[in-house]
Amino acid sequence: MSSALTDLFPLPIVQAPMAGGVSVPRLAAAVSEAGGLGFLAAGYKTADGMYQEIKALRALTSRPFGVNLFMPQPEYADPGAVEVYAEQLAGEATWYEAELGDPDSGRDDGYEAKLAVLLDNPVPVVSFHFGCPTPEVIESLARKNTLTLVTATSVEEAQAVERSGAHAVIVQGVEAGGHQGTHRDDPERDCAGIGLLSLVAQVREAVALPIVAAGGIMRGSQIAALLTAGVSAAQLGTAFLATPESGAAAVHKQALTNPLFVRTELTRAFSGRPARGLVNRFLREHGPYAPVAYPQVHHLTSPLRKAAAKAGDAQGMALWAGQGHRMARALPAGELVETLAVETAAAQAEAASAQVGGAFGGPAGSAGR
Ligand SMILES: Cc1cc2nc3c(=O)[nH]c(=O)nc-3n(C[C@H](O)[C@H](O)[C@H](O)COP(=O)(O)O)c2cc1C
Repeated sequence: MSSALTDLFPLPIVQAPMAGGVSVPRLAAAVSEAGGLGFLAAGYKTADGMYQEIKALRALTSRPFGVNLFMPQPEYADPGAVEVYAEQLAGEATWYEAELGDPDSGRDDGYEAKLAVLLDNPVPVVSFHFGCPTPEVIESLARKNTLTLVTATSVEEAQAVERSGAHAVIVQGVEAGGHQGTHRDDPERDCAGIGLLSLVAQVREAVALPIVAAGGIMRGSQIAALLTAGVSAAQLGTAFLATPESGAAAVHKQALTNPLFVRTELTRAFSGRPARGLVNRFLREHGPYAPVAYPQVHHLTSPLRKAAAKAGDAQGMALWAGQGHRMARALPAGELVETLAVETAAAQAEAASAQVGGAFGGPAGSAGR
């Protein structure tokens, strides 16, 4: 399905922005060079840090790429809950010989400053996570020829994205690794996450925007299925996290396919907002009572996570991963893009030939009789 977005890059493959030093310029460059769309993650960076990464990426490739911003978060209602959580984490701080971080280190992630940089130095694509920007912001970026994408995790959020005037919606299924991009964190909705294929079908009937699908995608056969379901491109995070170009810690990469980690879970343990990660000791122990307090809990646990990573201790780190993590391949990112493209084409050809021969091995329409 052609759109201003897909006209930018030849393959229907988007490398998900991954904050925390994962989607570094060399990863985004390798993906864009191979014909996908590479992404930088501005989340948790300063505006200048983001700008320096854009410059570094531009030095590596002249192909289109995207930059992802976090939306500012509303004022948090119950600071007492964060204080209680800090007390509950005191043992972790002692264990890792680290101080807990200051939960009040900011809620807006430097949004306005980052936008100002992106308006002064336009990039081909900007995507937004954790909420929907105003139509004025979308319009100001459009005037600079920047295409805008916004994550949605429900039909209602996708409709809000359409009303904002964004060019495309990133439909994020509950399988996705890392944070759910839910517009407003509501604990009432904790069990309301929708699987990707189901959500794509619902969003397609509700909005006319091009769709980029994200969540649990690890193989070209899944991309082919999603293209058949009407999406324009697939956005993969965990699959690219495992590549040598990704900036993820080696222990994080290894954990994706380590049989010790048998499943993933959505948790507020590390950041105060639901994010999917491999179930490890920290998640198991603190997830059940972690408060609804993003980004306060993110700031609070940041030194602990850094200390655990420095010690190579996978049990204390946020091991973000989607449900498909076991299928991760440690291929160079460009090779992964090419492999995914070949797999997608093969699955599409197989489906086409099955249709000609009758989808279930007999004459068309005889299935199940
Ligand atoms: C380590 C990690 C970090 C992430 N950081 C971001 C981010 O900064 N911005 C964003 O929009 N999405 C982020 N995501 C979510 C991805 O955009 C995407 O929804 C997800 O990776 C798709 O699921 P998958 O990991 O199963 O492919 C992150 C995902 C992971 C695994």
